[in-house]
Amino acid sequence: MSTIVEQKTRLRIKDILSARPVGQELTVKGWIRTARDNKNVYFINLNDGSTLSNLQVVADPETLSKDLFARCTTGACLSVKGLVIESPGSGQSVELKLISMEVLGDADPQVYKLQPKKHSLEFLREIGHLRMRTNTFSAIMRIRHALAFAVHKFFNDREFVYLHTPIITGSDCEGAGEMFRVTTLDLHNIPKNDKGEIDFTDDFFGKETNLTVSGQLEGELGAMALGQIYTFGPTFRAENSNTTRHLAEFWMIEPEVAFNELEDNMKLAQDFLQYLIGYALEHCKEDLQFLNGRAEEENKNKKQEERDEMGLLDRLRFVTENPFEHITYTEAIQILKSSNHFKKGKFKYPVEWGIDLQSEHERYLVEKHFKKPVILTDYPTGIKAFYMKQSEDGKTVRAMDVLFPGIGEIIGGSQREDDLEKLIKRANDVGIKEQDIWWYLDTRRFGNAPHAGFGLGFERLVLFVTGMTNIRDVIPFPRAPKTAEF
Ligand code: 4AD
Ligand code: MG
Repeated sequence: MSTIVEQKTRLRIKDILSARPVGQELTVKGWIRTARDNKNVYFINLNDGSTLSNLQVVADPETLSKDLFARCTTGACLSVKGLVIESPGSGQSVELKLISMEVLGDADPQVYKLQPKKHSLEFLREIGHLRMRTNTFSAIMRIRHALAFAVHKFFNDREFVYLHTPIITGSDCEGAGEMFRVTTLDLHNIPKNDKGEIDFTDDFFGKETNLTVSGQLEGELGAMALGQIYTFGPTFRAENSNTTRHLAEFWMIEPEVAFNELEDNMKLAQDFLQYLIGYALEHCKEDLQFLNGRAEEENKNKKQEERDEMGLLDRLRFVTENPFEHITYTEAIQILKSSNHFKKGKFKYPVEWGIDLQSEHERYLVEKHFKKPVILTDYPTGIKAFYMKQSEDGKTVRAMDVLFPGIGEIIGGSQREDDLEKLIKRANDVGIKEQDIWWYLDTRRFGNAPHAGFGLGFERLVLFVTGMTNIRDVIPFPRAPKTAEF
């Protein structure tokens, strides 16, 4: 009962700082960022996660005993009753004059690892259970939330249906074979059949299953019934890529639209990305301003040739205001081959028609050549997934990747192959068995129609919007090779 009553008078710091209710008595609850004693006036900076800004609590020995103040250390959690007053100091507009206080939870400074000083991002990853209590990570998490909300708003406003596709599946959508297995078989005693193969009939689902790498195949089934759908869920890839752009568990948004062709798909992708970034610019001003400053500092420490030409906010605005460049894969190879960068042998990986573009190639096109986002289309069939629509030329597919500065590929998608014969042949070529995707092939047998879709890697988007450089810093608890703590 008492907590409910208290909750009624408890105000969030964000609301206090914006409403400035001078003269009002109220209760605030939050965690101490810093506390100091200045000639017997105590200053405690509280943060409750509602905003980047702290609320300054002021007290003197009459209202706050020395013993109680001694427990006011960084990280401790307080409930403070006080009077809102105009702040005489600079840096904040109002502050809270303490009336009474309770320590809800102590944080022993001898062992509490998060101290009010600059910690490296690497160190903060080791204390992932605490890092959301820093300015940087709380700002990132609030922006991540705003972007997730904006994803749903964008599609809801356009009357797309949010389709929940399964997390456990029996198929490998991307055909890359980088899947985490799902099984209840006894790993010490795996049942085998006569041929010595694993006998999955005894397994939980009676067949081989894995965590999904994409919701697309089921998404297509939805599009062929509901017209336009999107998925937004976790996806899992067991690729052993220890990079700043890959996670083993990441969130993906996959719209799929009946009757759309490649050009419509490209337009949807651009509209979607510009909307999301615009939404963050409008709704996350304080946090973005803070991260903008952070990125500026980082930039100063970089070597001249590696410095970003634009600040974070300018970069975000630039992307929302300018149309993306459209080129084909074949044109991209020509540009790369005739670049000075190539001629001077500065690319680590070869450039040849037919190769899978490496991140260095993608970033050269975006950052050095066009200096804006690029949509690359019409890739060689051999380097793309089986479901992509094959072109008349017999060599390429109607694929599209959206490439972003600092990120490389942020979206991958395509028009889908709607010719059943071609689809089956291509699936066979890459080793996907017809009987495993009979239900997917049925969409081409019954009420077939052109359709297209794409996947946006949510963390790559958050990476771009926050200006962070390692994908492990834009998800609360990253999963990557040898990394599954917390
Ligand atoms: O290009 P991908 O593999 O495409 C698909 O999965 C399609 N089924 C999408 C579709 O057409 N519906 O992945 C899509 C996006 C990539 O562009 C990238 O942004 C992100 O997902 N992504 C990853 N993000 C973090 N870690 C990883 N390991 C990622 N792999 C892909
Ligand atoms: Mg891709």
